[in-house]
Amino acid sequence: MLSIVVPTYCEADNIPLLAERLHGVLTSRGIQYELLISDDNSPDDTRDVVARLAVNFPIRLLQPESRDKDLSLSVIDGIKAATNDLVVVMDADLSHPPEVVALMLEQLREDDEVFVVGSRYVPGGSFDRDWSLFRFLNSHIATLITKPLVSCQDPMSGFFALCRSRIGDYERLNPIGYKIGLELMVRGNFSRVVEVPIRFQDREIGESKLNLGQQLKFLRHLRRLYTARFGTVGEFLSYGLVGASGFIVDLFFYYLFQLMGAPHQVARALSFWPAVSWNWLFNRITTFGERKRRSHGRQWLEFVLTSLFGFSINWGVYYLLTTHVAFFDEYRLAALVTGVGVASVFNFVMSSLYVYNEKRQ
Ligand code: GDD
Ligand code: MN
Repeated sequence: MLSIVVPTYCEADNIPLLAERLHGVLTSRGIQYELLISDDNSPDDTRDVVARLAVNFPIRLLQPESRDKDLSLSVIDGIKAATNDLVVVMDADLSHPPEVVALMLEQLREDDEVFVVGSRYVPGGSFDRDWSLFRFLNSHIATLITKPLVSCQDPMSGFFALCRSRIGDYERLNPIGYKIGLELMVRGNFSRVVEVPIRFQDREIGESKLNLGQQLKFLRHLRRLYTARFGTVGEFLSYGLVGASGFIVDLFFYYLFQLMGAPHQVARALSFWPAVSWNWLFNRITTFGERKRRSHGRQWLEFVLTSLFGFSINWGVYYLLTTHVAFFDEYRLAALVTGVGVASVFNFVMSSLYVYNEKRQ
């Protein structure tokens, strides 16, 4: 017996199509199943639709009484409510071909310790080409940064199969947002990931709920996973990445202000502000995403104050080098980089001894 968990939000039009196709595929192969619709109290007629389908199909509706609307949490609710050990999770919008469910099941019957993923990026897999460049890049970059965590070509996939008993302790799971598959791969007790190629089809009905908020949640989710897997090194990595991105912001404004006519020392002093605000925001979302949230204004101010100290070193180095060393006056970028480097070491030491230390969970 198999349990199929489908998280839904406003998929009333898709659920009947999915239920019929799944039923056709599975009954023709003699596979008994239950279909669990894990719905976040959609404000459409999902409830009625499922009730009507339940006359002919083994379908059940789950709706949470109280918790934030969240795809990952819905999936976990569904897995917990499943009556079978074999579980497949898939989207409602027919992006995931029901035919593949049978193949996934075969993999699990061969070896019940594996985590099976419906994958777009293995030979034989594909996706609709009319993806926007943004979505394409997004998916690829996201995949790239999960490489140290899992060995999987398509860790973002929302189509996967597993034996529930391999998940282990549900308390250890701590996902946010969309990537529950990744969470399970990283935290579960699976021996390895097996990928079954799929043709990912864009939805025809309704719209994707993947928005900027979800992207930011994904960054926080990644940070949790990195910290879980690599401890403090994960935090350092996140801090470093945020710093590196802030450096680009810094450079951008350093040149922009000069283009606008500011003298280079002034430009150097001004570009600090957008850069530090950027770093503050992204550290808040990613590196320190799990810490108790303090008010924006106060936290920004604290961040600025600690950074200012580092920045006076940064600017001081730049100033001294460009005024006293001809080489650095000629290659001002080198002076800027040196200043940032010295200040980063200082900031890092300050952060790990003082800022981070106090508020570690
Ligand atoms: N319960 C619940 N709660 N379900 C949700 C929520 C939510 O907050 N948000 C979305 N869903 C359901 C949708 O109804 C759909 O069945 C499924 O989750 C996927 O949502 P889509 O909005 O269609 O996502 P997508 O197509 O952009 O993303 C899919 O592809 C990605 C890879 O490109 C998902 O499968 C992602 O998990 C996957 O990473
Ligand atoms: Mn979709």
